[in-house]
Amino acid sequence: MNNKIVVVGSSNTDMILKSPRIPKPGETILGGVFTTAAGGKGANQAVAAARAGGNITFIARIGNDDLGRQSIKGFKKDGINIDYIKKDETAPSGVALIMVDEQGSNSIAVASGANANLIPDHIHEARNAIENSDILLMQLETPLETVVEAAKIAASVGVKTILNPAPAIPLPDHLLKNISIITPNEIEAEILTGISVRNTDSAMQATACLHEKGIETIIITLGAKGCYLSKDNIRKIIPGFSVKAIDTTAAGDTFNGAFAVALAEGLPIEEAVRFANAAGALSVTKEGAQPSIPYRKDIKAFLQ
Ligand code: RIB
Repeated sequence: MNNKIVVVGSSNTDMILKSPRIPKPGETILGGVFTTAAGGKGANQAVAAARAGGNITFIARIGNDDLGRQSIKGFKKDGINIDYIKKDETAPSGVALIMVDEQGSNSIAVASGANANLIPDHIHEARNAIENSDILLMQLETPLETVVEAAKIAASVGVKTILNPAPAIPLPDHLLKNISIITPNEIEAEILTGISVRNTDSAMQATACLHEKGIETIIITLGAKGCYLSKDNIRKIIPGFSVKAIDTTAAGDTFNGAFAVALAEGLPIEEAVRFANAAGALSVTKEGAQPSIPYRKDIKAFLQ
């Protein structure tokens, strides 16, 4: 394998308010600090994979505006191939409003803008890149039919597909049969299977349900606790790393990007998950989505 990863997904600019706590509906609180940072689940995963050492092509749609141009600058800096990032003349670049509390937990609302216009035609334009990649990595902040199309192309030529089903929605079987690896968190696993994941037994039940849909590898991410991995005869928790959380935004994205790289490099699955757990843990020690994503050398040093 030579580490070629195609990421299909969203690009946002995050408008972040860090405040003592997240206000209830109808409530106003004072004392917050405002920042902006590059974000979007797709872009975060592309950046995480690039910084972890992958050769990344990102398929996305941005608006013809300053926020979009700023995002492109960042992708170029991270050495990401931007040939398939199209400018949309009808919609603005995606924006996410994020509230982060003192414990580092967040609430996010996204105005998709141009991300909602990433249609299957754009995937067809990038068909060659997908067919010649080692791994296709996707999430659910772009239209479902686009994800379906990309997975179909990848599966038809035996390219491994990773789906991070976030934000979660129930997914059709015809998509799931083309997914090699799925990486829901506990809430997403429940939305996909109807099984509430509270312990190892329920995690096993949820993974059994997803295996039945034809998915070979299931990784339920459990935050600081690590992950529950189910593949062939491996069914186990791969522990996470204990760090002081400042901001958990993009921890899952960092996990997915780093995991894709480790897998493309041929690491055994348990080691790939450990590498990804380390990357995810490092990301929560810093603020913001893309500003918090670690580089390969930092992940390696953390794992020493
Ligand atoms: O996963 C974190 C991301 O979700 C943020 O960067 C925000 O843009 C939303 O897409």
